[in-house]
Amino acid sequence: MKLHSIILAAGKGTRMRSLNNEISKVGYPILGVALVNYVLDAARGLVDGKKVVIVGHGGEYTKKLVENEAEIAWQHEQLGTGHAIMQAAPMLEGEKGTTLILCGDTPLLTNESLTKLVKYHQEHELDLTVLTATPQNPHGYGRIIRDDSNHVTAIVEQKDLKGAQVKVNEVNAGVYVVNNKYLFEQLGYLNTNNASGELYLTDIIGLFNNKGYKVGAYILEDENEMLGTNDRVQLAEAAKFIKQRINRRHMLNGVTFENPDNAYIGPYVEIGPDTVISPGVTILGQSKIGVNNTIGPNTYLENMEIGDNNEIKLSYLCDSKVGNGNHIGPYTRFRSHVEIHNNTKVGNFVEFKSSVIKDGVKAAHLTYIGDSLLEENVNVGCGVITANYDGYNKFHTHIGKNVFLGSNATIISPVTIEEDAFIAAGSTINRDVKKDELAIARTRQENKVGYANVFRAKAKAIKEKNKK
Ligand code: UD1
Ligand code: CA
Repeated sequence: MKLHSIILAAGKGTRMRSLNNEISKVGYPILGVALVNYVLDAARGLVDGKKVVIVGHGGEYTKKLVENEAEIAWQHEQLGTGHAIMQAAPMLEGEKGTTLILCGDTPLLTNESLTKLVKYHQEHELDLTVLTATPQNPHGYGRIIRDDSNHVTAIVEQKDLKGAQVKVNEVNAGVYVVNNKYLFEQLGYLNTNNASGELYLTDIIGLFNNKGYKVGAYILEDENEMLGTNDRVQLAEAAKFIKQRINRRHMLNGVTFENPDNAYIGPYVEIGPDTVISPGVTILGQSKIGVNNTIGPNTYLENMEIGDNNEIKLSYLCDSKVGNGNHIGPYTRFRSHVEIHNNTKVGNFVEFKSSVIKDGVKAAHLTYIGDSLLEENVNVGCGVITANYDGYNKFHTHIGKNVFLGSNATIISPVTIEEDAFIAAGSTINRDVKKDELAIARTRQENKVGYANVFRAKAKAIKEKNKK
C-alpha cells in the first residue's frame, strides 16, 4: 500500500512577528536549513507515494525550498488546517493508499518516530492514527479527548477548551496517518463552528468516529519531538535540541567537541573521527570534514570539503576545498572556489578567491590572492596582492614552482611568473617574468650623506615661524 504525504506550510506565522512578508514561517532556518526541510527529511525513505506541500504565505519562498522533492499546492487564503488539506485534492483525491500528514513547523520529529507511527497504524488496522504526546506544558496545543474506554473521540483546540478539558495534558502533535480515500471524503463535512472560525483538520477525528472508521493514537516516546516553532522562543528552543542531537551523533562517531553547547554543525555536515571542534565553530551546508583535523576556535565553514590532519583557526572559509596537513589561520578567508592542496601554511589576514594553491605554498601574512594558480612551494611574502580586477574584467595570474614573491609585491594580472623566479620586495609587476629571473620594479634608493641634519633644521624653522 502506497504512503503519500502532505506537509502543511501555508500559515503566516503571525507569532514570529516578522516585518518581512516574503518568508513563510516554515522557511525560518535552524543551522542553515529551513524548518520545512527538516520535516521533509524526517519523512524521507518512508513515503513512497506522492509528496505534496501546501504553500500560501511566503509561498514562492517555500516553493523554492521544497520543489525539487515535492509537488506544490497553493492555499491562497489561510482558512485553517482542514482547508489547507483540501488544496491537495487535485493531486491526491482518488489515490489509493495511506497519507501521512505533517506540519512544516515541527522540525524535531524523527524518521524513527514517524516509522513507528506508521507501523502502529498498519498493525492496528486503523483508518486514522493521530500522533500525540504529553508535554510538561500542554498550553497552546490541541488536546486529545478520550472516552472511558480510552478511545480517542476528539481533538479540542486551546481556544475551544471547556471545563475539565483544560486539565488534559495529552496533546495533538499535528501528525496524522490516514486512509487517503476516507480523508478526502470526510473533509467535505468540516465546518467553522469554533473559536477561530476556521476549518480545523482536527475535526476529522469526530467525523471518522461518527462514520465508524477506526481511530487511534500513537504516543511519542520523547515529547520534545513535537515542539512546534510558532514564535522565536520556540525557534530557539528547537535549535537547541537539533544542535544537541547533531553534536551528540558526531561525538558518538569519534569527534571531540571541547564545548558542544558552543558549536553549530548543520544537519548535512560530515565529520571524520579524531577531529577536534573548539568553541565558537559553525560548520554549515554540505561540508565534509575528514579525520584528525583541529578546527577553531571561532571558525566558520560553509560548503567546505576538507581532508585530513589540517589545523584551521579563527577563519572564515566558504565553497572551497582543502587537502591534507595544512595550517590555516588565524584570520584566513576563502571567499569561494579555492582549491588548496597539501602542507601549506596560510596565515594571518590572508584572503583567497577562485585560486588553486598547490603543495607547500606559504602565505603567512596579509595577502590577497584572486583568480590565480600558485604552483608548488611558492612563497608569498607579507603584504603581497594580486590586482586581478580593472573595474570591468577579472584577470588570471600564474605563479610557477618555487617562486619567491617579496613583501608588498603587487602583481597586476594578467601575468605569468615562471618557476624559480624572484620578485623583489615592493615591486609592482605587470610584465611576465621568466624562469630564474629576478624582477625588481621600484624606484632605486638614494642615500644623501648628512642630509638628515639639513632636513631637521628646515623643519624646526617652519615650526618656529608657525608659532608667531
Ligand atoms: C495545530 C493543531 C493543534 C496541534 C498543533 C501541533 C489544528 C486546528 N490545530 O495547531 O491541534 O496541537 O498544530 O503543532 O490543526 N497551516 C496551513 N494553512 C492554514 C493554517 C495552517 O497551511 O490555513 C499550516 C501552518 O503553516 C503550520 C501548520 O499548518 O505549518 C499548523 O498550523 P498552526 O497555525 O501552526 O497550528 P497550531 O495552532 O500550532
Ligand atoms: Ca504550530
